[in-house]
Amino acid sequence: MASSITASPWWKTGVIYQIYPRSFRDANGDGIGDLQGIALQLDYLQWLGIQALWISPFYPSPMADFGYDIANYTDIDPIFGTMADFDHLLQEAHQRGLKVILDFVPNHTSDLHPWFVESKSTKTAPKRDWYIWHDGKPDGSAPNNWKSVFGGSAWEWDAHTRQYYYHGFLKEQPDLNWRNEAVQEAMYGVMRFWLDKGVDGFRVDVMWHLIKDTQLRDNPVNPDYTDNQPTYDQLLPVYSTDQPEVHTIVARMRQVTEAYDARVLIGEVYLPIQQLMMYYGAQNDGAHMPFNFLLVRLPWQPREIAATIDQYEGALPAEGWPNWVLGNHDNPRIASRVGEPQARIAAMLLLTLRGTPTLYYGDEIGMRDVAIPAEEIQDPQGLNMPDKDLSRDPCRTPMQWSGGDNAGFSPATPWLRIDKRYPRVHVERQRDDPFSMLSLYYKLIQLRNTEPALNKGTYMPVYSNDQLIAYRRDSPDGDSFLVVMNLTPRPCRYRQTGEPILSGQVIVATSPELENTHIGENIYLSGDEGIVARLARTDDRPTT
Ligand code: GLC
Repeated sequence: MASSITASPWWKTGVIYQIYPRSFRDANGDGIGDLQGIALQLDYLQWLGIQALWISPFYPSPMADFGYDIANYTDIDPIFGTMADFDHLLQEAHQRGLKVILDFVPNHTSDLHPWFVESKSTKTAPKRDWYIWHDGKPDGSAPNNWKSVFGGSAWEWDAHTRQYYYHGFLKEQPDLNWRNEAVQEAMYGVMRFWLDKGVDGFRVDVMWHLIKDTQLRDNPVNPDYTDNQPTYDQLLPVYSTDQPEVHTIVARMRQVTEAYDARVLIGEVYLPIQQLMMYYGAQNDGAHMPFNFLLVRLPWQPREIAATIDQYEGALPAEGWPNWVLGNHDNPRIASRVGEPQARIAAMLLLTLRGTPTLYYGDEIGMRDVAIPAEEIQDPQGLNMPDKDLSRDPCRTPMQWSGGDNAGFSPATPWLRIDKRYPRVHVERQRDDPFSMLSLYYKLIQLRNTEPALNKGTYMPVYSNDQLIAYRRDSPDGDSFLVVMNLTPRPCRYRQTGEPILSGQVIVATSPELENTHIGENIYLSGDEGIVARLARTDDRPTT
């Protein structure tokens, strides 16, 4: 019913699409993607059926962490274009009914941000307390044992003012002191700057890092650490992240966001389910959606996935709206993690579970991680821990638009190499191929957009075993879908045992041949096959 569809906010019913701007489309021919490039692809995004694009940072930055080190929060880096390009992009997106979500990076700035430059100039500078400065221990060593996510100590010695400053990430990314009111006000001001321009919301970078223990207590040792993990994981970050006071800050961000109509606040939070739920806020006054990375992190095993979905659903606060993420610019791509056939199942899962799906650019054509030779590695996480294979470059390669030069991404040599399979794997080719990954994504997104059962209905687990997962999605007006997916390469049978036996018609399947076929008591699936079936209403069934 149209009326009930319009009653839900857009960020609940629609699909979010993440763009890593360096790699989406290069319009000015310097080998690096830009805002004009994104504008060129809006028709594609509209066709695909997504509701919102979230764009990774494009603000002025020395690019030590490719834009996650910001030197000015309210401008555009010349690499990506100008403010006029941004205004144009926003307007063009809105004209097409697309929302634009910005990446907001409040935890740290670039070390070249004027705030930090002032802060480190002298111990008595007015902005000294905007960052986290501390004396060393009597022996001169760092104030505590905290580690940087990107390797090494999280403390950097400043010889000029003879104190250490804290950086949870690179030393070029000093952490702001969020206990300082002036910092808070400055950052809420940044949010208002963009909200006034009309952006539709924010994805807040490393939300759970914002506040640190006032006493700077040592983090405890992680007894489960293994050598192949980042060195950061040697300790449990119980004092450097996820402090109770963070929720007050998140609530303020929510207030700032909600002073405007129909905007969304999303938080990047990598925490176990129970702690994650806290980010919805005790009074439903936290993030609208703390990102749920379960599908990014879980082993690809049906029982475990089914159990975790139930756990997540069960842990949600009464007003909390679920969401699911399948990939992003920090993690291996889904097609590389589970293989291409299972990446199709993953798409079905992402787009039929209850809650807002976030999809990473290129996953819709099955882009894979690209091996980057050591001498071409650009990601600081990879460069700082060379023995651990942690570079995020492989999942950040340029989008494959066509079989032409540089995959249609740029007329120039791209900043990061393109998958050599691109002549076979690209948007242009897949758009016309009913068997392609893109066609599957397209159909699933269209179905999700038009069916309240899928975009807002209830979720009910039906069955899972070592091979398959089955669940139902039901809308209040009586429409129901059954999703059955085989998470292995071996054929399987799902024999319904419940009462009544569900019957219906397959609407979308990983293998298009199955579409329009009928399902009944026994559902047979080939390896790597999944179906979404519309269930016959009880009153539609022939009476016997
Ligand atoms: C987030 C971003 C990541 C970045 C880090 C530091 O985790 O997603 O790309 O490196 O924060 O800003």
